[in-house]
Amino acid sequence: MTIPHGDLLYEGKAKRIYAGAEDKQVLVEFKNDATAFNAQKKAQLDDKGRLNCRISACLFEVLEREGIPTHYCGIAAETWMVVQRVEVIPVEVVLRNIATGSLCRETPIAQGTPLEPALLDLYFKDDSLGDPLLTDARLALLGVVSSEMRERIELLARNVNAVLIPFFREIGLQLVDFKLELGINAAGELLVADEISPDTCRLWDLSCLDAEERILDKDRFRKDLGGVIEAYGEVCKRVQGACPTPRNCS
Ligand code: TMP
Ligand code: ASP
Repeated sequence: MTIPHGDLLYEGKAKRIYAGAEDKQVLVEFKNDATAFNAQKKAQLDDKGRLNCRISACLFEVLEREGIPTHYCGIAAETWMVVQRVEVIPVEVVLRNIATGSLCRETPIAQGTPLEPALLDLYFKDDSLGDPLLTDARLALLGVVSSEMRERIELLARNVNAVLIPFFREIGLQLVDFKLELGINAAGELLVADEISPDTCRLWDLSCLDAEERILDKDRFRKDLGGVIEAYGEVCKRVQGACPTPRNCS
């Protein structure tokens, strides 16, 4: 299903962004495309767009209820979300509660090590460079984010973590790590943008001890574990059980 929209403004790996009815808003279409390893691995996963749109909408509403500003306005259809137009900060913000993934590939830290406080890693959002890890000195050198904004970004990301950890725990999921993208709206406010979904979070089923079976996120696709959509469906079912139906904004 498609909905009335303006010009295509941007096409990313998992979403298309279109001009909306109002200047301050844009429409996001969640695609079924799945990619990993900087799009070297690709697949079409039926229903992924709908599931990620629904999961993200619910999670944005959870954040909003806790006073965390996001770009989310509402959903317009199953795979369509209305969001505020923002200038995206070209930094991917990763918070890690448990060591896994690239942290364990790139350092001797053992898989599963609890990280308290959560480890904040910033990456430069640039596919042609493979989204490199940034040091604070490199961030300052690049000049894309001031030191004051760097502090605001960290505070916002840690606040998101503080809301999402207990939210997911309540529905039997462990928030292992996640990636946020942040943006600045016309009023100059810093907002959580992009999406929050099993594409961008690692989520483990707390009731399952098996190291592979418990994975309910995109690692199933990255590691060829199968059952990707079933895992996303399970996350969606649990998230929806805990949130009211996301508001419609068509
Ligand atoms: P990493 O361990 O591969 O660095 O991933 C950390 C988190 O960021 C994990 O929750 C997956 C998410 N992520 C993205 O959302 N997009 C990406 O391109 C990558 C590499 C990771
Ligand atoms: N978003 C990544 C890509 O570039 C993949 C990932 O999430 O690992 O394809």
